Amino acid sequence: MPIAPFLHATMETATGGMGTPVAQILSLGSYIPDGVLTNADMEAMVDTSDTWIVERTGIRERHRVGPGDTAASMGERAAREALAKAGNPVPDAIIVATCSAATRLPSTACLIQQRLGLGGMPAFDINAACSGFVYALALSDSLIRSRALRTVLVIASEALTPLVDYTDRSTCVLFGDGAAAAVVGSGGGDGGIRAVRWAADGAEADLIYYGVREDDPDGGRAIRMAGRGTFRSAVTRFINVSELLLADAGWTADDIDWFIPHQANLRIIEATAKRLGVPMERVIVNVDRVGNTSAASIPIALHEAAATGRLRPGQRVVSVAFGSGVTWGGVALEWTGQTSR
Ligand code: UT7
Repeated sequence: MPIAPFLHATMETATGGMGTPVAQILSLGSYIPDGVLTNADMEAMVDTSDTWIVERTGIRERHRVGPGDTAASMGERAAREALAKAGNPVPDAIIVATCSAATRLPSTACLIQQRLGLGGMPAFDINAACSGFVYALALSDSLIRSRALRTVLVIASEALTPLVDYTDRSTCVLFGDGAAAAVVGSGGGDGGIRAVRWAADGAEADLIYYGVREDDPDGGRAIRMAGRGTFRSAVTRFINVSELLLADAGWTADDIDWFIPHQANLRIIEATAKRLGVPMERVIVNVDRVGNTSAASIPIALHEAAATGRLRPGQRVVSVAFGSGVTWGGVALEWTGQTSR
């Protein structure tokens, strides 16, 4: 499969140009709804089994929004935690990564801006599906390094379960809901984002989709996915972008303290880690407990790694994502954010 050329972001930060600001994740927040859908719950809904789901995906349970909860309400909660941990700065922009907004208009970013009582700064959504957080980080990194902005509130929030067809066993077992947020700032001292890659290839737009298509019998009201093709494309892109990020940052696989990939399928994660030569002890995995939360997946995992004390300042992290579009990308960074709740 051809690898599309990458729009490239961050070589300057890798070499630390004189006086160039470096973008850092200053703090994180997350919100995962209380409602749980276990594999036993899935067995009661469709022709599946706990054994199949665990063996083929690694997922044991996923969370589900309650009535009234949306990408905006979850994103607000995650944002409040991240802002509080950073000392409640007024961000210069609010960027929300989501593909599951409850409203087409206004954007989820503006709804969260309203909920937070903020106003004036630009607020907008990015839809890059599961790569949304990486895209938002890439954009924030550019805005900060160019000195256009100093502080960006990045939120990734997904209410996917309302978009799932619970009679389609090939997709319904995969997805869960959740949100996470990061205050990304122009940092001093060491650490921060070392390299970013982001890319897309619309030639594979048919792999995962939601919405009306002429040939869609059910009017496009559910997420549809060609599982095997998506799996193959994801593994190829994960490996490729990881190798590019390592080269950009001047690191080898041995230099990575934590590999924190998008949590879509444990087999994708294991295949990538094996190919890179990163032992699973240095891979953050929570797909077993949250399923695939699309754009929120990487920041939820980062938050969990930091909150549990595994991810510590100064450590080197590589995160990679892949999703509908198809989109993919990743970030190499030295961790600077808080380590506890
Ligand atoms: O976040 C965006 C990126 N998304 C991903 O990366 C997801 C990538 N894809 C995957 O994770 C995997 O392809 C799936 C988990 C979706 C499917 O696993 P697979 O090993 O690729 O299975 P398959 O689609 O090739 O299906 C194998 C069999 C089929 O039965 P037959 O045709 O062999 O009789 C399916 O009907 O497994 C069947 N199957 C199921 N059986 C029990 C599909 N889903 C289920 C299920 N329970 N939930």
